[in-house]
Amino acid sequence: MRDFKGKVAVITGAASGIGLGIAERCVGEGLQVVLADIDEENLARAETGLKTAGGTVLAVRTDVSKRSDVELLARRTLDTFGQVHLLFNNAGVAAGGAPWEATWNDWEWVINVNLWGVIHGVKVFTPLMIAQNTECHIVNTSSTAGLTVGGAIGPYSVTKHAVVALSESLYLTLQQRNSLVKVSVLCPGLVRTDIINTERHRPTELRNDPVPMSPEKQAALAAFKAALEMGMPPLQVAAVVFDAIQSERFYILPHPEWNEVIQLRTDRLLRMENPRNPAEAIMKLMSPRR
Ligand SMILES: NC(=O)c1ccc[n+]([C@@H]2O[C@H](COP(=O)([O-])OP(=O)(O)OC[C@H]3O[C@@H](n4cnc5c(N)ncnc54)[C@H](O)[C@@H]3O)[C@@H](O)[C@H]2O)c1
Repeated sequence: MRDFKGKVAVITGAASGIGLGIAERCVGEGLQVVLADIDEENLARAETGLKTAGGTVLAVRTDVSKRSDVELLARRTLDTFGQVHLLFNNAGVAAGGAPWEATWNDWEWVINVNLWGVIHGVKVFTPLMIAQNTECHIVNTSSTAGLTVGGAIGPYSVTKHAVVALSESLYLTLQQRNSLVKVSVLCPGLVRTDIINTERHRPTELRNDPVPMSPEKQAALAAFKAALEMGMPPLQVAAVVFDAIQSERFYILPHPEWNEVIQLRTDRLLRMENPRNPAEAIMKLMSPRR
């Protein structure tokens, strides 16, 4: 897709971070924008900001982990704008830990939002786009964590690998049918967003019992926060995403410096060598001296 003006984009997780950056870029491109997010306060702020910038905007409070919410999002989009051309399945949350130590609630929450959220978006919107028979593009947000495995972020990494697999399957099946619906998967490294405060989106029924955080975990969190603050600005990610949509590129990797970490896993896999913890290489990428 090269011509965006007047077309319609739906963005989940649009009230903050990468989603908001994509929404700002959409408005800049003259797209009509549907903002979907669970955070009503930030959603209202994003809506006002984008309208002030001259955008045509609809905000729909949406919990992507709920199929009925995503169905309603599609209905509201079609009722308001009649069509949908771009879909960004971007909403995501993070919880980590070794697979057996992450709580049942951690697993459920992260899978519900990061994987079911994308499945809901794909299942609800793809048939609408196919039926429309116009140029369309779906971008699913995964992560470099969907192409590598850092041991300590078990549940998150599992969902992000699944999003890559889901996106490849979607791409290949649509391509086989010569569909006008194109697909990309976005795998960013570190982006300057609010993901460090991800816990505020956790539903009450999936909260963990409070336990004091170990000094190691506190230090790791502080290092991650500092690294995020130096991460790529969301608008720069959005620019890479739009470039990929225009050139119909499937894999979107805005952080080439992460390639060596991805390579480490791929090389060992093909040589049937056992996994090596990429923590050292990742710490190097997170280091402020870079
Ligand atoms: N920030 C990074 O470094 C980074 C790197 C790789 C991938 N990602 C991915 O980018 C995506 C966006 O994250 P971000 O970094 O912009 O974080 P963010 O916290 O700034 O934004 C995430 C948005 O998703 C929304 N959200 C959370 N749960 C939701 C739900 N159930 N339904 C609807 N919306 C929900 C939040 O309210 C928030 O507005 C996520 O999928 C994340 O995994 C982020």
